[in-house]
Amino acid sequence: GSAANLQESDLSTTETAARAGSEVETEVRNRRTFAIISHPDAGKTTLTENLLLKGGAIRLAGQVKARGDKRRARSDWMKIEQDRGISVTSAVMTFEYKGITCNLLDTPGHEDFSEDTYRTLTAADSAIMVIDAAKGIEAQTLKLFEVCRLRDVPIITFINKIDREGVSPFDLMDEIGSKLALDTAPMIWPAGMGGLLRGIFDPENDRFIPYEKPGTEKGGPDSEPESLSGERIADYLGADELATFREEMELAREGSPTFDIEQYRAGHMTPVYFGSALRKLGVRELLDAIVRFAPPPRAQPAATRIVEPTEPKVSGFVFKVQANMDANHRDRVAFMRICSGKFKRGMRLKLSGSGKTIGVHNPILFFAQDRELLDDAFAGDIIGIPNHGTIRVGDTLTETEDLVFTGIPNFAPEILRRVRLDDPMKAKHMRRALESLAEEGVTQVFKPEIGANWVVGVVGQLQLEVLASRIAAEYDIKVHFEPAPYETARWVVAEDAAELKRFMEAHRGNMATDRDGAPVFMAKSNWELGYTLEKWPKVKFSATRERA
Ligand code: G4P
Repeated sequence: GSAANLQESDLSTTETAARAGSEVETEVRNRRTFAIISHPDAGKTTLTENLLLKGGAIRLAGQVKARGDKRRARSDWMKIEQDRGISVTSAVMTFEYKGITCNLLDTPGHEDFSEDTYRTLTAADSAIMVIDAAKGIEAQTLKLFEVCRLRDVPIITFINKIDREGVSPFDLMDEIGSKLALDTAPMIWPAGMGGLLRGIFDPENDRFIPYEKPGTEKGGPDSEPESLSGERIADYLGADELATFREEMELAREGSPTFDIEQYRAGHMTPVYFGSALRKLGVRELLDAIVRFAPPPRAQPAATRIVEPTEPKVSGFVFKVQANMDANHRDRVAFMRICSGKFKRGMRLKLSGSGKTIGVHNPILFFAQDRELLDDAFAGDIIGIPNHGTIRVGDTLTETEDLVFTGIPNFAPEILRRVRLDDPMKAKHMRRALESLAEEGVTQVFKPEIGANWVVGVVGQLQLEVLASRIAAEYDIKVHFEPAPYETARWVVAEDAAELKRFMEAHRGNMATDRDGAPVFMAKSNWELGYTLEKWPKVKFSATRERA
């Protein structure tokens, strides 16, 4: 019989290990874990829906939002997202396409939630950058791009909404090239735009995908136009129009470097796709690009060594914790990116740092499709681990070895506020609430050296509202925030411990500690920060802090 028919016990230990090794290798090769970065309104939700639809994960477009509505009913703080019409919760959606397992990380789009978004990006191997053809590169896209650049995350560009009047495709390519300092390689080229849109060219396969305007016979919302090749393109467009579009496309291709997968994977070049998420034009081509070009799970740096995804032993890091998903239970879900090995339900994992061991009996897997509960997950996958607060953002979990993954940063808060309690008897409760919510990684809590008031740091104004509303709803404590005399904060480190001590003593009024006890310098103004920076050259001021 074949090896597959043998019982585990029939095989020697080395044979079992070898077989497990090759299974992990195959699974890793067939995985793509990616996120979408965009400015609000560029079309991320619409594109997500259509990617899932293409991947067979959902049957009808609209379900991503519908599901969101159901989720919103669950707890009070989610009312804010309902009122504001934004999405605060982020999840992972897994689907299969052409034999490849795709993990799409959903990053909250609202700019106020950037820290959470930033950290979600640390769990992605690549990104799709969605740009609105009429608006070009917008503020939030640029910010998120910069986070991707920190790690040279490969980016595929999707220029969306070409069914509307937009900037010329040439100008859009130029803008990406110059604003992001990236080489752009046109992969799909639009034939017209807005009212004049006729379809898209796929020069590699010499195909043309016609665009059927909505309302026309073929242009139903779920129909996908058949692609044309050879003579049929000219028949469809007419010789003159075809000549004009071909000329444009050739011009674009001559003016750009040819696509080079190595350059793309190194983060230096972005392949550019034009399309319309709403009209399903170019979505299939985009998904094909992910499957063909996007990198499989990467090696992950740890403090002591680099961990390869194909190693048989399980390891992973937590990039997000969501507390109180169910208002009736004080439970949390830690989202862990698996960095190596094959995870099995019921496996025991060791938490670096505390050394505690956790049995993972009820992992949450994120297949967007109705299917049987899965028992296994591989490097590149995300699993949700329910727990009671033992697991924190930045934590490493391993099967055996003591490892600490690096590179999951805290970001310097852009808004600092003092927390004021309406009922001073509840100080202890409030502290617990603040710390617990900080563990989710959305807000930061600082304890100043001098004075009794806690300071919270957030990346955007809306987070303060979320924070107050959650403290009220989940802990029954009324707080409000008042201005703190600080504008910005930096983590401080120095090679020379004595120098750091001198610095801290000289600035006691500015010093605080974060929830891990790490020293933080809070500056009253950017000017003060600049001045201090210059005066203390041996102290390193960092806008991010990596959990170690
Ligand atoms: P976001 O998640 O990035 O914020 O964007 P979302 O998908 O919600 O899209 C924002 C708006 O842009 C939506 O319109 C959506 O229908 C529209 N849109 C997305 N892709 C395309 C496209 O390819 N072409 C055109 N013409 N429009 C597109 P809305 O009216 O704000 O919302 P809705 O009421 O349609 O949901």
